[in-house]
Amino acid sequence: MRSADAAERPGIHLVDVRKAFGEQQVLDGVTLEVPRGKITVVIGRSGTGKSVLLKHVMGLLRPDSGAVRVGDEDLSSLGARALRQVRFRFGVVFQHAALFDSMDVFENVAFPLREHGMVRTSSGRDRRMREPEIRARVEQLLRSVGLEGAGLKPVDALSGGMRKRVGLARALVRDPEFLLYDEPTTGLDPIMTAQIDNLIRSTQDENPGITSLVISHDMQATFRIADHIAMLHKGQVQLRGSPAEFQSSVDPIVRQFVEGRVDPPTES
Ligand SMILES: Nc1ncnc2c1ncn2[C@@H]1O[C@H](COP(=O)(O)OP(=O)(O)OP(=O)(O)O)[C@@H](O)[C@H]1O
Ligand SMILES: [Mg+2]
Repeated sequence: MRSADAAERPGIHLVDVRKAFGEQQVLDGVTLEVPRGKITVVIGRSGTGKSVLLKHVMGLLRPDSGAVRVGDEDLSSLGARALRQVRFRFGVVFQHAALFDSMDVFENVAFPLREHGMVRTSSGRDRRMREPEIRARVEQLLRSVGLEGAGLKPVDALSGGMRKRVGLARALVRDPEFLLYDEPTTGLDPIMTAQIDNLIRSTQDENPGITSLVISHDMQATFRIADHIAMLHKGQVQLRGSPAEFQSSVDPIVRQFVEGRVDPPTES
């Protein structure tokens, strides 16, 4: 997973994905390649289906038609059990932190390790992590997100920025192959936003085998972290390209979003 050829292995690939809820066609033929070893940011206005797209990648929603491939697995061909196995390879930072309020910070981050944390022994067998290993790993993660010493705090006493960082530490604790972030900085102040963005970027740079997919509607943050950007509009990918290609795009729909204007061509 962390080898030099990581970038050649498949990342995430959506092919002509369609999804409707009742009359509402939310995804209307989304084709998107999310290459391994890079950060791809999906942008788009509120309600365009970004979270719905992410749920397809996680196998929480099934497309009406089209394919979702994660690594070398085609999710549509998997049963519930195999799907769970694929999900173990994901780390997810949810839009609304989704922490366990009854647990303290340490227990929240340790949770995935207690559920299914494994280490490989010298004989090549997997065994459950022991308590001191869990402790060391959690403390290392808390340090890396700037929450050293905060382990015993109850999570319902934390600020929004701290909650996001706990969520990020928890997403990383099992060394995921795919990292998914749903609006990781929404509701944070600009300084905390920049810190979380730096954390997302440094996590990627320190773990080059990871494939990151970030949902955002913040252009500044997007330009700060993205290797690739895809803009979702009216159920389809309006443009996919590098940050430079977005900066120089003359597509009025892209321009409006990049510049954050509220005037037409909103409904074009
Ligand atoms: N389970 C569901 N059942 C019915 N409609 C749904 C469901 N999930 C999402 N939708 C609808 O699909 C559309 C897209 O929702 P989605 O949450 O993906 O938007 P979004 O792009 O993530 O927006 P935001 O930026 O506000 O988070 C919305 O109109 C929403 O109401
Ligand atoms: Mg959303």
